[in-house]
Amino acid sequence: MPEGTQAVLNRRILEIDNSNLLHIIQKGQRVLDVGCGSGSITSGIANLVGLDGYIVGIDTSPHLIELAKRQYENIPNLHFQLADLYCYTSDQLFDVVSSARVLQWLAYPQKAIAQLVKFIKPNGMLSILDYNHQKIEWSPSPPQSLLNFYDAFLRWRADAGMDNCIADQLSTIFKNHGLNNITEQDHSEFTQRQDENFAENTSIWIKVAETRGLQMVQDGYFQEEMRRQAIVDYTSWIKNEGISMKLYLRAVTGQK
Ligand SMILES: C[S@@+](CC[C@H](N)C(=O)[O-])C[C@H]1O[C@@H](n2cnc3c(N)ncnc32)[C@H](O)[C@@H]1O
Repeated sequence: MPEGTQAVLNRRILEIDNSNLLHIIQKGQRVLDVGCGSGSITSGIANLVGLDGYIVGIDTSPHLIELAKRQYENIPNLHFQLADLYCYTSDQLFDVVSSARVLQWLAYPQKAIAQLVKFIKPNGMLSILDYNHQKIEWSPSPPQSLLNFYDAFLRWRADAGMDNCIADQLSTIFKNHGLNNITEQDHSEFTQRQDENFAENTSIWIKVAETRGLQMVQDGYFQEEMRRQAIVDYTSWIKNEGISMKLYLRAVTGQK
């Protein structure tokens, strides 16, 4: 994850940012949260299952797993583990496997889902929340320099094997892996100027330009001068003209 996104991850709460799980998870269940970040949503899952439940959060970031362990050490049935989902093994199966905003970053999302399915008990549920980055909406349109950067970002991601439209592929992938009772819900994230966090939410693309953008320049996808210009122009858009931004997110659930 780009540096600087930790604050965003840490502010997320189950009831708002992974609310699809509210209708799925029940008291006493065993839940696996894959790509749990700093554990803020995972701790909400712990509240839902109560002390008779059991929750494991895994993530590949040592720094985020350390933070999660520190922040939630007082919850006895909540465990965090440094692990890559492709290599993770577990001697127990889970009632619910959840993964939010993770598959967007993976080069092999089909393989990832095959892996996630392995950890679900018979009749258990898989719930994935993810983006279609091609369906982002800004109002009014941001400066051309930022749109050029965003196009290059999607190309860079696609060339690295990431699926920019993963949200809209999930139900087909679920079917291909034999899951049943598949449901889909719109969980798009909408922010508008009057929101307290409008500047922070919309500035996600500044953080991306400042971090991934450097790599994109190194990889020849964008010119350094244009990257800097996009940051300047978009900062001004956030401050002066920006009215709203919608990130397209879908929650897809299936039963094993
Ligand atoms: C955008 S964050 C989402 C965090 C949290 N689920 C949320 O919705 O706020 C994606 C997380 O997935 C983790 N991640 C990426 N690839 C992973 C993998 N192969 N196995 C486990 N975690 C992974 C990253 O380290 C990061 O913390």
